[in-house]
Amino acid sequence: EPTADQESYNRYKALISTLPSQRWGLNGMDLHQYNGFWFPRIPLEGLMAAQDRFVARPTDIILATFPKSGTTWLKALTFATINRTDVTGSNHPLSMLSKVNPHECVPFLSILYSDGRLPDLDSLPAPRLFAEHIPFSLLPESVLGSGCRIVYLCRDPKDNLVSLWHHTLAWVRVQGLAQCHSFNEVFELFCSGVSMGGPIWDHALDYWRESLRRPERVMFMKYEQLKGDTGGCLKRLAEFIGCPFSEEEEREGKVEEIVGMCSFERLSELEVNKNGRMSVGNKEFENKEFFRKGEVGDWNRHLTAEMAERLDRITEEKLRGSGLEF
Ligand code: A3P
Repeated sequence: EPTADQESYNRYKALISTLPSQRWGLNGMDLHQYNGFWFPRIPLEGLMAAQDRFVARPTDIILATFPKSGTTWLKALTFATINRTDVTGSNHPLSMLSKVNPHECVPFLSILYSDGRLPDLDSLPAPRLFAEHIPFSLLPESVLGSGCRIVYLCRDPKDNLVSLWHHTLAWVRVQGLAQCHSFNEVFELFCSGVSMGGPIWDHALDYWRESLRRPERVMFMKYEQLKGDTGGCLKRLAEFIGCPFSEEEEREGKVEEIVGMCSFERLSELEVNKNGRMSVGNKEFENKEFFRKGEVGDWNRHLTAEMAERLDRITEEKLRGSGLEF
């Protein structure tokens, strides 16, 4: 007898098998188009389950990001900010971030709900901190109704594509999947809106518009801004999530301390991130995959001038009139 739960997962699987699908980069890496956005099967199942089951609280904080836009960094910064006074407890940021990859500090909702799991999230203390690559239109209804806060992060599509591509190639090493597209081919797919979480413009625009409509609920950030003024963004973030830095903390250099603790240089040099591994759902990742270059403008080394111009033109057209630009 299947349990009610298995039945719903069978329903998700059956639904996914009817969706348009598209291979992306690797054999065995298929994306499925659900409500206009492309996702691999496992997080999509989890996303559907989270949509059905996740009950948000007003104190929850959701880090919503486009894949490869700096999720790992945002997780580290937010986790460290929220727990900065927990100097003796189990969430002490410095010791946690030295021991585990930031992804283990802030779980993805779709992973928590994948594989038929029913996570017990009720016992978690407030504020509960979750992440998700979910598009705004697919957020669980209770997130929209609860008043919880959403921090959104995205990135110049050119750098985002380059980062996505390297991440995908890393799967060749760790998952043993075979490459089936060239970079030029995934560039074409990306331009037509097909990539994990894509179309990137729609993903960003939905959150952008909501951040204008309800700035107290959705904070919109770009990787480029975060790189340009990490401290300023962190102060804004802390205020937004309800734990602003006090004047005294600022005087004591708390902001700089967290910025330093979460910097690419520091995190990528930690043993756990150099040689550690982590399983996410049914996949194994090498933690070092999440720290490649951490630069703005690395697209320069991968896209020809024509490709960059073409992608910029598409971005301009898609975002025209919205007030959002890269
Ligand atoms: P690059 O591939 O361009 O280097 P995500 O965390 O969403 O998977 O995004 C990964 C990208 O963020 C990678 O970009 C990675 O190097 C960069 N990144 C990870 N940690 C960072 C940090 N502490 N500061 C700046 N960038 C970081």
